[in-house]
Amino acid sequence: MLVLKQRLTVATFHNLRVKDIYKETDDCSVVTLDIPEELQDDFAYRQGQHLTLRAEINGEKVRRNYSLCSGPSEAEWRVAVKLIPEGKFSTFVNSELKTGDYLEALAPSGRFGVEVNPDKAKNYLFFAAGSGITPILSMIKTHLKQEPHSTCKLFYVNKTAKSIIFKEELEQLRNAYFGRLEIYYFLTRERRDIELFNGRFDDERMEVLCKTFIDIPDTSEVFLCGPEDMVNYVSEYLVNAGLPKELIHFELFVKGLSEEDKARAERLSQQNVEGVNLTIIDGGKEFHFTMTKDYDNILDAALGAGADLPFACKGGVCSTCKCKVLEGTVEMKVNYALEEDDLDQDFVLSCQAVPLSEKVKVDFDV
Ligand code: FES
Repeated sequence: MLVLKQRLTVATFHNLRVKDIYKETDDCSVVTLDIPEELQDDFAYRQGQHLTLRAEINGEKVRRNYSLCSGPSEAEWRVAVKLIPEGKFSTFVNSELKTGDYLEALAPSGRFGVEVNPDKAKNYLFFAAGSGITPILSMIKTHLKQEPHSTCKLFYVNKTAKSIIFKEELEQLRNAYFGRLEIYYFLTRERRDIELFNGRFDDERMEVLCKTFIDIPDTSEVFLCGPEDMVNYVSEYLVNAGLPKELIHFELFVKGLSEEDKARAERLSQQNVEGVNLTIIDGGKEFHFTMTKDYDNILDAALGAGADLPFACKGGVCSTCKCKVLEGTVEMKVNYALEEDDLDQDFVLSCQAVPLSEKVKVDFDV
């Protein structure tokens, strides 16, 4: 029997009014949320962070994570929601949600994005595909505005010219920051005169990009957001071309598990966790309970015990559920969100973390 000594503090959802909603493309709606004055400090965010949104759809509470596409200095909270076939939340937003309705949201979180330093002259590279532009747009706006000596280059893949999300806003930025923002559009389902811009990133294209537009030794940071195969491919190409791995940051759309991930996930789902003593630090308080065999991962076990810890995707992608292991051993089934330096500091995704030792202590406050 699970014993939770004290109900855990709550990752609070706030009911927020939809200030504006418009169609950016045929299948992508942009939603601006009204953040009341008293919540604005809690909702302060850094470029590249995301919101966890929740709505009741056909009697079911559905939550999803969306990157903010506005920039922190705009004092706006805007997300773009691309319609995914059979996606409950994205269908709801794209077909039902209207101005004046309410959505629930957790305060922004996420670790995509780097510190802004107005004194530095950095050269940023961005690779995005489709709705992967959302955190990237926030970063581009922020770095251009707040780092007057920095430059940005964006390589952006879409299916057709009509499906390019935020084309107009990007073009306005290119004009406003003339000479500091370069944008290269790549289309996969429409042909244009210059062959280089027809299709996805591949060896041939990357070779030309690295010879013509990208100066590897002069690159300060690279951000990638899009499907897993694109992110992995471009990262690997740039590392092989001499770019230090630690300069590459990414956020993935996950398609499916690799054979290795599947095998590990399968092995860990067989792990006997019954009787594991779990201690959770959240909101400055310690809570203890014993795991049963109902759940294999720390997040589900804690939620099952009545906790209200933060989570969104439960798929190892968003990092909303991140915590630090202070005691004991855990292993993650999959990890698409944490980078090497997070792992070195013992951070794990609690939705994926399976205890391997009899006692485990994790901290959600760090
Ligand atoms: S809830 Fe998204 S990574 Fe755990």
